Amino acid sequence: MFTPSAASLTPDYPTLRAQIASILEGERDLTANAAQFSAFIYDTIGDLNWAGFYLVRPVKTVGKNGDTHELLVGPFQGKVACARIAFGRGVCGTSASERRTVLVPDVHAFPGHIACDSASNSEIVMPIIKNGQLYGVFDIDSPSLNRFSLDDQAGLESLLAVFVEATDLV
Ligand code: SME
Repeated sequence: MFTPSAASLTPDYPTLRAQIASILEGERDLTANAAQFSAFIYDTIGDLNWAGFYLVRPVKTVGKNGDTHELLVGPFQGKVACARIAFGRGVCGTSASERRTVLVPDVHAFPGHIACDSASNSEIVMPIIKNGQLYGVFDIDSPSLNRFSLDDQAGLESLLAVFVEATDLV
């Protein structure tokens, strides 16, 4: 069984990549792998207060913008969060609609940021894309300002790529 070392502020991403690949090996179920991935990130990356998935799902109620799909919270670690986020709203909705990683050094300076947990001060959101299709985003929040460097971005994207490869996305 995997025993994490202490969460690190400057994680050894190649080692974490090997560990998460081995944890997910032999299982392709989305809920199982997303739960394991969230727990792994929360346990191994230091100074976080939230880590988890928002998945693309049909809208509950068709709104003014006419979108047929929106983001719905999935497996995560941390405090209870907002359940549904429209494309283009907040950091998660921006990452989803622009299909790119959004690195926010100070969430209070990000127009439209959705404050699910008032403890959050910085955030990184990465899109989950496979074969050109958007399946959701992975959101990581920190209570510290400027928690995530460009090295963290590259490392975290590489961990998410292992998850995407190992999982049957729906
Ligand atoms: N802050 C996010 C919302 C999700 S919570 O942080 C878990 C946003 O602005 O999209």
